[in-house]
Amino acid sequence: MTIINQLFSAKLLAASALLMLQSSSVSAENEEVATPLAFTINCSGCHLLDKAVVGPSLVDIAKIYHKDEAAFIKWCVEPGKKRPQMPQMPSMAHVAEGDLKEIYQYIIKATKGTKNAKVQKGDLYAESPTMAARPRIIRTFIPDSGPASLYVALPTEEKHNLVWDTDLCRLRYITTGEASAWGYYRSSGNDLAKMGKKCYTENASLFTSELKPEFKGYRVKEGLPTFIYMIGEVEITEAIELEGNVIKRTFTGSPSLPVYQAPDRETKELRTTSQVSGQSLTVIHTAQ
Ligand code: HEC
Repeated sequence: MTIINQLFSAKLLAASALLMLQSSSVSAENEEVATPLAFTINCSGCHLLDKAVVGPSLVDIAKIYHKDEAAFIKWCVEPGKKRPQMPQMPSMAHVAEGDLKEIYQYIIKATKGTKNAKVQKGDLYAESPTMAARPRIIRTFIPDSGPASLYVALPTEEKHNLVWDTDLCRLRYITTGEASAWGYYRSSGNDLAKMGKKCYTENASLFTSELKPEFKGYRVKEGLPTFIYMIGEVEITEAIELEGNVIKRTFTGSPSLPVYQAPDRETKELRTTSQVSGQSLTVIHTAQ
């Protein structure tokens, strides 16, 4: 058994958080039903209205659960393993019960009078509209990073992806090209996500502290994350920003930043410099 396999079967697979802040809607036979934001954020990467992608279609889900909201919620919090051709669904225990109820009502309404469409063969994951958009933030298993990693697919010309390890609380590397978690899902967790071509690697934390950092989560603004973590008593925020094609990572510390070593380096594809302003440090990656 590979490590990945063990992790997967040990149900250490954390929720694959797909964050998209725009709301969309699907049309049922007679009415336009607004899609709840909680559905767009938590479910839409894997569930489409009338097509099986990573998971079954909403039409199929409504068939099973149209009379049993409680069983639906139970599944979301503690999903079972049913369909042999599909991976196991990650638990949605982080979604508030009120939001799951709203999602349930939405699924029932949106599927009224709708039938499953014919499905084409191929990368079903590519059919998911939220998977094609940039920026996006996906939590999945990624090569050369910890099992709880995120990638941030940026809307730069080169299609940069930041691979950020939530266990070590730091950037691991940057790639260019289309990133895809499909390989991972298709193989039920036995393969890793595809990450494009590496153009920058950060071998250690910028902070020289010996203390193990503790991940506190991230917030999202206009599709870009700000990571929050603790090193000892210091709370650090690391905001990912874009200025045209330039990637900026701004670190601030409360009460103040621990001792750091700012990277200053050049690869063929990316020049990395840094800037200090008051209490914050900004690492700047410029495509060459
Ligand atoms: C990372 C992909 C993924 C995400 C995100 C996801 N699901 Fe699923 N879901 C699946 C897969 C895969 C299955 C099929 C699992 C199986 O049959 O073993 C599934 C199955 C289901 C089922 C069918 C259960 C049954 O009894 O057959 C329901 C209901 C469901 N998901 C609801 C949700 C809801 C609601 C959300 C968002 C809060 C969500 N899912 C998010 C992948 C996902």
